[in-house]
Amino acid sequence: MAILVTGGAGYIGSHTVVELQNAGYDVVVMDNLCNSSEKSLERVEAITGKKVPFYKADILDREALEEIFAKENIDSCIHFAGLKAVGESVAKPWEYYENNIAGTLTLVDVMRKHDCKNIIFSSSATVYGDPAFIPITEECPKGTCTNPYGWTKSMLEQILSDIQKADPEWNVVILRYFNPIGAHKSGTMGENPNGIPNNLMPYVTQVAVGKLKELGVFGNDYDTHDGTGVRDYIHVVDLAKGHVKALKKIEEKAGLNIYNLGTGTGYSVLDIVKNFEEANNIKLPYVIKDRRPGDIATCYADATKAKVELGWEAENGIREMCEDSWRWQSNNPNGYED
Ligand code: NAD
Ligand code: UFG
Repeated sequence: MAILVTGGAGYIGSHTVVELQNAGYDVVVMDNLCNSSEKSLERVEAITGKKVPFYKADILDREALEEIFAKENIDSCIHFAGLKAVGESVAKPWEYYENNIAGTLTLVDVMRKHDCKNIIFSSSATVYGDPAFIPITEECPKGTCTNPYGWTKSMLEQILSDIQKADPEWNVVILRYFNPIGAHKSGTMGENPNGIPNNLMPYVTQVAVGKLKELGVFGNDYDTHDGTGVRDYIHVVDLAKGHVKALKKIEEKAGLNIYNLGTGTGYSVLDIVKNFEEANNIKLPYVIKDRRPGDIATCYADATKAKVELGWEAENGIREMCEDSWRWQSNNPNGYED
């Protein structure tokens, strides 16, 4: 039996494939490569020494999905495939709802036709909106999202929960990621954003490598310890391992389960700058800019539920996250394009 990893060539997906193969699972990857490179899977193979069966296919393409399910013996799906750029989603809402929601509906329909009713879904702390309380537990009410991307996550959570409720044969694990950063220790795999990065860490590493002039810090007048935004940064390898642990709930046939995957610690933008500088002995130029629309002051997890129920806990601290992000960027200044 194999696990289908949609979006498996992407940042979190490729790191998860490494951890799945290391844990002895058979994996099949599908990805349309709209935001990734097949080279990430070559790097996975170099690390694990195992072949990664790959289908270049779109989750909206029912026929392609049918072919994969007919050929492969798929037992469960870890579903990463989706568009994720917050700003782009505001400009292209239709494309985001089509890709993320219609794509997932198509995937789930093909899955159930092939009697595969186990899914782990990539959700996000963005579903909490401006959180009702901090640290955020899974009991925190979902909030008002500030962009279509966030709504696709919130709506897909509802859709998958309703499907599970109507048919209890489904086992659904919803994982709400906080802010993934870092890279595989080998320095051969990491985040490979297209164009100018939107997220903090890839922007930081591109300034450090000299591709960008300086970091813009979006606001220093938030109600936080130094006025800059606070987030729960989590090492991508820890996040990947969280998916392997989540398979336990699928194997237990545990119905619907929701977990935060974060560290429980919040760092401000300036904390990240300082830690990055210290970990890598690099000076990072930055300027204070206006707040970015849609940003919140503080977001960090209470990750107790994942610890108690999955036996999962983040192992890497901020220093490792800064070192590993930099190792990847400095070894691969142009990402997977060499
Ligand atoms: P990513 O863009 O690196 O990976 C997503 C992958 O999905 C890409 O390889 C892309 O080519 C593929 N894809 C997109 N649409 C597809 C389609 N229609 N058919 C087939 N493949 C398609 O992003 P990531 O950071 O690895 O994120 C993985 C998942 O986790 C996404 O669902 C994302 O929304 C979610 N997530 C990410 C973050 C984050 O900060 N990185 C935070 C919370 C949730
Ligand atoms: N920031 C800067 N300068 C930059 C980029 C970011 O100061 O150039 C700041 C932001 O204002 C924020 C913090 O750094 O305070 C983190 O910003 P990111 O863009 O890295 O991450 P967000 O918390 O805004 O959002 C990310 C993902 C979302 C996801 C969310 C929660 O982009 O998709 O985490 O998981 F929903």
